[in-house]
Amino acid sequence: ASPKPLAGKTAIVTSGPTHEPIDPVRYIANRSSGRQGHAIAAALAKLGADVTLVSGPVTIPDPDGVTTLHVETAAEMLEAVTSHLPADIAVMVAAVADWRVASSADQKIKKMPGEAPAPLMLTENPDILKTVGHHEKRPRLVVGFAAETQNVEENGRSKLQRKGADLIVANDVSPQTGVMGGMRNQVKIISETAIDAWPDLGKDEVAMRLAELIAARLA
Ligand code: C5P
Repeated sequence: ASPKPLAGKTAIVTSGPTHEPIDPVRYIANRSSGRQGHAIAAALAKLGADVTLVSGPVTIPDPDGVTTLHVETAAEMLEAVTSHLPADIAVMVAAVADWRVASSADQKIKKMPGEAPAPLMLTENPDILKTVGHHEKRPRLVVGFAAETQNVEENGRSKLQRKGADLIVANDVSPQTGVMGGMRNQVKIISETAIDAWPDLGKDEVAMRLAELIAARLA
């Protein structure tokens, strides 16, 4: 095989959380370090792909050999992703917040002594993976993640259908697994026809195996 099997291919990867403002100083977010998404972007680039990484707020450095765009909210992430279509490959790893505050405040919300806190009205965020999976410029290979704490396989399978993905990388992120924020990951690769359980691996190894699988599927 060629040492650069993804040469000439373009890829878009999302990574990290999104931050949805409540007011100028507060936000809603999911837990995500960005480690797995950033590692996947780097691995695709190592195999020769031209990679755009759309990252939410993270504390880890931009990977080498990749064009990294920094965004805060799901709406910004969606805009950055769709404006980079067409692409050959999309790998949506970001832990996008499902909801945002319906109308975030322009000024810091003040804590009023003795008064009940104001309720937060939430509205649903766009689903970036689902949008890409059903887009008129849909990439040839669309990969999503399913971070679950139970029924990992069932939830992964239904996500494959619903989101229009070719592959779902499903993992158990229950606190006792140490996956969130950690360096290791144990995943199941779910496709239309099979479920492949990978051993516990470093996130860099998961990334390289996934990049190789993507290259094989595009070959
Ligand atoms: O539905 P759920 O959030 O569990 O799906 C996870 C997959 O969908 C991940 O690949 C994630 O990046 C993607 N996703 C997205 N936009 C959302 C929610 C999830 O791209 N608003």
